[in-house]
Parts: sequence; C-alpha cells; structure tokens
Amino acid sequence: MAYRITKAKTHHAYDRRIKSGQRITKAVIPAAGLGTRFLPASKAQPKEMLPIYDKPAIQYVIEEAVAAGIQDILVITGRGKQAIENHFDHSIELEETLREQGKRAELQAVQKISNMVNLFYVRQKEARGLGHAVLCAKSFVGHDPFAVFLGDDIIDHPRPAIRQLMQVWQRYQAPVLAVEEIPRERTQAYGIVKPKPLSPRLFQVQDLVEKPRPERAPSRLGIVGRYILTPDIFGCLEKTKPGAGHEIQLTDALRRLNRRRPMYAWQFEGVRHDIGNKLEFVKATLAFALKDKAARPELLEYLRETVNTLCS
Ligand code: UTP
Repeated sequence: MAYRITKAKTHHAYDRRIKSGQRITKAVIPAAGLGTRFLPASKAQPKEMLPIYDKPAIQYVIEEAVAAGIQDILVITGRGKQAIENHFDHSIELEETLREQGKRAELQAVQKISNMVNLFYVRQKEARGLGHAVLCAKSFVGHDPFAVFLGDDIIDHPRPAIRQLMQVWQRYQAPVLAVEEIPRERTQAYGIVKPKPLSPRLFQVQDLVEKPRPERAPSRLGIVGRYILTPDIFGCLEKTKPGAGHEIQLTDALRRLNRRRPMYAWQFEGVRHDIGNKLEFVKATLAFALKDKAARPELLEYLRETVNTLCS
C-alpha cells in the first residue's frame, strides 16, 4: 500500500533551493579509511584497489555510478591511495605499447576506464571517520543533492542500487539511505535505523543509532554503503563530535538531520559485498568469477574437487 508523506512543517533553508525534480549528478566516494580489517594486504595498497576477479573493487562502484547517470565524482583519498588516481588516469605509455602490439581488446579496456566519468580527488588528511570524510566534499557538492558510495561496498544487481535510491529521491526530494536486514548479533558493526514501514522495501526513518548492542538496536535494518544526501548534512557534520571509535560518524550527523526533516530508508534489491572484510572479499571474487561464462566450468570443477578433498 502506498502512503502519502506529509512534509515536516519546518523546512531547512536548503529545501527552498531544491529545484523540483532535480536529478542527482554528483557523487562522493569516501576511500580514505585505513582498512585495518584487511591488514597486512591493505598496508601499501588501498583495499579499494584489491582486484575482485578482473577489476579493482572501486571500479565496480564507479561503474554503478556511471550506469545511474552520475556525471561528476569526488573520491576522498588519503595517504598511500595514489593507486586509485593512477588507475583512472590515462596511461599514454601503456596505451602506446598495447597499440604497437595489436592488443586491441586490452587497449579498449584500459581506455574505457580513463574515459568513464569526470573524477576529482581530495585528500582527507587524517582518517577521522566516515562523517569527516564526507565533510571533505562540502565545496564540491555546493548546493546540490548528491550520492555517496562507500568505496569498499559492491552491490550487484541489474538495477544499480543507487538508481533504486534515486527513485525514492524523485518522489520525496529528501535524504535516502540504503539498508539491509542484518543478523541481530551484527548490529554493533552498523548504523541501525528505527523504521516506520511505508510500502514494501520503503521506510521513513524515525531515528538512527550508530553501532548499538543487539538488545538496544531499534531494528535489524543496517545502513550500508549507498546514500542520497542533501547539502544541509554538512552543517550537521560540522556540529558532530567524535562518537563510536572516536571517529566522526556519518550516522550521528544523519540523526541530527533527521530531527529537522523527513528521511527515508530503502531496502535495496541486490547482493552486497563488503570487500573490506576478508571473507566477503573471497566470496565477492568467487561470485564475479562465476559470472564469467569462460571461467565458470573450470572454476566449478576446482570448487567441487576442493570441497570433496576437504570433506573426505
Ligand atoms: P570502513 O570503516 O569500512 O573503512 O569505512 P576503514 O576504516 O578503512 O576500515 P577498517 O574498519 O579499518 O577495516 C567505510 C568507508 O569509509 C571510508 C573507507 O575508505 C571506506 O570506504 N573512510 C572511513 C574514509 O574515507 N575515511 C575515514 O576516516 C574512515
């Protein structure tokens, strides 16, 4: 059943600047975290650059953004993250060599990456948390609504997860968070929403709590790495003090924003891989390799043999 949402009476000044039907064309990808869960692999190599089968993780994320019509992307980087910029840059020497060697498919693949989208970079000088990373995007965002993609969250679905959120945005012109039902014992790893169900998969957010203990969690709906935000989040971030893990938490700023305006949560369709977690990284690699028809038979055979050997 579809519900009608009445807007909160006190609109923030920002609302008056939103053009009706405004599309989301800007995105921010925080990728400056230290990746401690993936050490030592992530010591000198950004976890976002670890290959998931045949592409670095962050390329899947950027391809999702491009598929949803995003035109400009700001990547928040940090110390030791230069490989991200290099990957999306032109490599004249490499392209010349591939051309000379007649490796056309490889040349096309390399050129496609650097021509995909307008990419901008800013450094988060210290890894002070996701909220602080998003705050680094303030000048880039200006007065526009924008999408946020976490650089270590891949969501696989024919309809890009961010496009699913954009449809909610088009309807309400308000912030939208991607949520996933998580096991109760995992609530301490997520921001959790207190939801008011509106229609299948759609909720109005009544409150949010960062990393609650299972018994204190208001639901099992955990916030994951896709958001549509409005620029009034920056004022909230500026007022947010370090919270869980002594980091400036985006969830705490969202909570502040939610007191001023309605906010929605969308339980996305798709499979999410948090590649910052070693086990999920392996699963993601397998899942994408199995989608490759050329690799699939041999890989399945290998998996069968491995399982048989382990179980015998
Ligand atoms: P995570 O908490 O998953 O990343 O942050 P992390 O801090 O790198 O990982 P662990 O927990 O130490 O293993 C989610 C996203 O936010 C970015 C990360 O790069 C990741 O994509 N992030 C996090 C920043 O950009 N800056 C920060 O200060 C923290």
